[in-house]
Amino acid sequence: MKDSLKYKSLRGMPDILPEDAVLMLKIEETARKVFRLFGFKEFRPPILEETEVFTRSIGADTDIVSKEMYSFDRGDKNISLRPEGTAGVIRAYIEHEWNKTSDTVKLFYMGPMFRGERPQKGRLRQFYQIGAEIIGSKSPYVDAELIFCLNLILKGIGLSNFNIYLNSLGCEDDRSRYKKVLLNYFSGSSKEEMLCEDCKRRIKLNILRVLDCKREVCRTIIKDAPLVMDYLCNKCAGSYGVLKELLSDMSVPFKEKRDIVRGLDYYTGIVFEAVSVSLGAQDAVAAGGRYDNLTKDMGGHDNGATGFAVGVERLLLAIDKKGIDLGPAQVFIIPVDSNCYKAAFQFVNKFRLEGISCEMDYSGRSFKSQLRKANKDGKCFVIILGEEEKKNGKLLLKNMETGDQTLLEFEEAVNQIKVGI
Ligand code: HAM
Repeated sequence: MKDSLKYKSLRGMPDILPEDAVLMLKIEETARKVFRLFGFKEFRPPILEETEVFTRSIGADTDIVSKEMYSFDRGDKNISLRPEGTAGVIRAYIEHEWNKTSDTVKLFYMGPMFRGERPQKGRLRQFYQIGAEIIGSKSPYVDAELIFCLNLILKGIGLSNFNIYLNSLGCEDDRSRYKKVLLNYFSGSSKEEMLCEDCKRRIKLNILRVLDCKREVCRTIIKDAPLVMDYLCNKCAGSYGVLKELLSDMSVPFKEKRDIVRGLDYYTGIVFEAVSVSLGAQDAVAAGGRYDNLTKDMGGHDNGATGFAVGVERLLLAIDKKGIDLGPAQVFIIPVDSNCYKAAFQFVNKFRLEGISCEMDYSGRSFKSQLRKANKDGKCFVIILGEEEKKNGKLLLKNMETGDQTLLEFEEAVNQIKVGI
């Protein structure tokens, strides 16, 4: 990157270049198709919310809220760029009283999220998520449906080598029992002394957050800590068992990972992550889980809820882009000389009206150089327009893959191109 540039994009907020934008669109279209099969409706929440929407839901002591939010004062309100989508969806669910419209509300959303993290490969400050939330049910069948849906999306996008990891964080009672066990494990011992300053603070504020610390020194202590899974009540253990059975019945491959705790406070019960084996440190391409208490905590009713979000940039890093079709074939019209320019321009736009993507050159390149360029750009069809063709209203259509050339009426050319596409 040139240091002399006067303006550059902000660190961790890269431009999405056209070649990636095209792939992102493909990913979004695939997800949309799958969501439709499961009865999800699209929802577009705002990018800015009152900061409290996030502090209340994600948790004031999480890294996201305490260090990473882009917040500022506006009038008498402190507002933030959304670091994730779930909080905004629940805010809207309560605001619009969607609980009155249906027992179970299924929504999906797509768009940029903002977290002031330390940028690295796969970890950005502005990144795109495709998220889904099912609100209004505590049934493990819903979790199974959601994970089935995620699996279909990831496979449909062309992600081949990934694992889905499951865990359960239990209900509130389970976690309060577990917190006492953890406190016993960490506190008053040399272990507590060795923990980082943040974790020492977390022991007092929210001890579960210690388990999420990424620092090497803390990881060595955390790895032998008791696991929440061993403190589940019969109901939570039962739901988790049903989920595993349902996923197996539907041949959704999964593995249990008993130390998934997730970095947001709203989770209860079943949690999961989809991890790509072809990525480095930031290998989770999607993550989610149950958050049964959030609607009530934010002022709504006691509704069960579960959801996930896919990280689009991480998917772009993980998928094999070779096999991806980047869109409809393009047609290039080459006027043989300047007298045919106007006629060529008219045909270019006539093809576009027929739904065929079509272009011509306006820079005065020679006929030969235009043909070379069309070949290099991978155009499927080239139309050569000379005086003869102009006079009898026909077009010389060249199929660049086979090399075949045919003289055709406009309508015939349209049909052939559409068949070729
Ligand atoms: P999350 O685990 O924070 O969960 O993010 C979900 C996914 O977004 C991650 O697995 C990752 O692929 C991507 N992601 C997160 N942070 C970054 C980053 N800094 N740069 C690039 N990609 C990133 C949530 O956001 C929850 N709202 C998911 C959810 C929905 N849970 C229930 N419903």
